[in-house]
Amino acid sequence: MPALKTKAAARPNDSPGHDCPRCPRLVAFRKAWRKSEPDWFNAPVESFGPRDARLLIVGLAPGLRGANRTGRPFTGDYAGDLLYQTLLEFGFARGRYRAHPDDGLELIDCRITNAVRCVPPENKPTPQEIATCRPFLAATIADMPRLVAVVALGHIAHETFVSAQQARRASHPFGHGRVHPIGKLKLFDSYHCSRYNTNTGVLTPQMFREVFTRVREHLAIARP
Ligand code: URA
Repeated sequence: MPALKTKAAARPNDSPGHDCPRCPRLVAFRKAWRKSEPDWFNAPVESFGPRDARLLIVGLAPGLRGANRTGRPFTGDYAGDLLYQTLLEFGFARGRYRAHPDDGLELIDCRITNAVRCVPPENKPTPQEIATCRPFLAATIADMPRLVAVVALGHIAHETFVSAQQARRASHPFGHGRVHPIGKLKLFDSYHCSRYNTNTGVLTPQMFREVFTRVREHLAIARP
């Protein structure tokens, strides 16, 4: 008797799945790291936090030894230290951030995703890789029924979000501290909380706090 073929479980369209084949360069990079570091996560990193959150934070892409190793956005990345500390301070997270996906940290009314789900070499996705991954961001946004505010961490996250919303990039130039109404959502721009930006003073913890202060003010009055 022929073996019964079991149907693969349906994957939500906001998730590329564990072995996404879409970007050949990223697939080759992932395969090389699966070989040399078999205990690392080494796969597209899923969003973290509840789907019914009102705030979505969009980063760039998993860091090689951070999210790509641990499997949770910004976790184990230098950038995660400032991000999670700020989220805890503003009540968007509960628990303790210990740079490990089993640290029990919980996001409250907040979700974190990346414009590109796979780790790119040198932390630099190509324009084509960014465009190829964009439908996953669009689906992530579409699957958040209460979403009212988005924080874009850096220029690429900003542009990817604007394009995913089918808004005109020229009408919404990136700028730290800028706020853009896009459809029913408000987009809050911030410089990325990367090691480079924080070490050079491009982004200070206080500048980062000011962005989240404005987000909090908006959430106090916004209706989903
Ligand atoms: N880690 C992520 O998950 N995203 C970034 O943008 C940077 C580090």
